[in-house]
Amino acid sequence: MESLLAKTMPANAEAIAQAAALLRDGKLVAFPTETVYGLGADARNGKAVAGIFAAKGRPRFNPLIVHVHDIAEAEQHAVFSKVALRLAEEFWPGALTLVLPRRPGTSLSELVSAGLDTVALRVPAHPIAAALLREANLPIAAPSANPSGRISPTSAAHVAAGLSRDVELILDGGATPLGLESTVIGFDGDAPVLLRPGAIARQTIEVIAGPLATADAAIRSPGQLESHYAPRATLRLNVREKEPGETLLGFGATPDATLNLSPAGDLREAAANLFAMLHELDRQALRIAVAPIPETGLGEAINDRLRRAAAPRTNHA
Ligand code: TXA
Ligand code: MG
Repeated sequence: MESLLAKTMPANAEAIAQAAALLRDGKLVAFPTETVYGLGADARNGKAVAGIFAAKGRPRFNPLIVHVHDIAEAEQHAVFSKVALRLAEEFWPGALTLVLPRRPGTSLSELVSAGLDTVALRVPAHPIAAALLREANLPIAAPSANPSGRISPTSAAHVAAGLSRDVELILDGGATPLGLESTVIGFDGDAPVLLRPGAIARQTIEVIAGPLATADAAIRSPGQLESHYAPRATLRLNVREKEPGETLLGFGATPDATLNLSPAGDLREAAANLFAMLHELDRQALRIAVAPIPETGLGEAINDRLRRAAAPRTNHA
């Protein structure tokens, strides 16, 4: 009998061609991007997109990011304002997602927008993601390749451990370089709004877009549920001294730390290590304590993920 478990292949040309064929055939494929691993499907194929929601146990009201080759392809699916175009020109390919009005007549499935009249678009920079888009020659809907509500995957092994049964093929491209999901920007009229802090720091985007409004609960990314990125272990934040029975995740000089996000106190290194270290400690510990991390630069996104990981658990199924 054929195994139900997903096959993991090193992402060479042959594997990428196989993955592209599977996508064209309406199947699910996991692949690396510069942020985290994505669980991809043909974004035009409603049945394939529905498969993503089923595989992740994702609430149907939470829309997906569609990955495309370039700005020209993005413009076939969404209407760009001037400032949206400037942001795309500056940050694509890269870890920026833009939420824009759907273009009438777009070939994208309604399901990627989960009933909204907007669509989230991104041009990924990772060479394997770019090669897969080129080879498949279709827009790829891809949320992070983890069960809904759990820690995002930064390696092929994380994907296999979480989702493997519903995924046809996992392209292994090693650890993802940034380790945090893309920054999601939406618009209130012409004014840019930070819907999700991410791998590009707010300040870097504000250089181009001007001050970013912070999303209030009403217009926030539907995926920004309070509890998210949850390990099985409990999490206590801003800990200077661990309690008996706790395992400490350090940042900067942290003598008692079992693992350290960045001994040198570098936020970029901490972002890249965050999910992998949470996965690792979750295997060893029941109670994780995390050292304080500054709110500046990438610290905003790191602390956002940590607060959600520590939040009281809700049922996502
Ligand atoms: O880095 C990333 O963004 C990764 C890689 C694979 O590209 N993807 C990712 O997707 O993190 P996901 O589905 O885990 O998170 C997408 C976020 C969610 O918070 C979702 O609610 C929001 O984007 N989003 C998607 N479409 C939206 C829309 N039309 N309006 C508002 N928010 C949207
Ligand atoms: Mg996610």
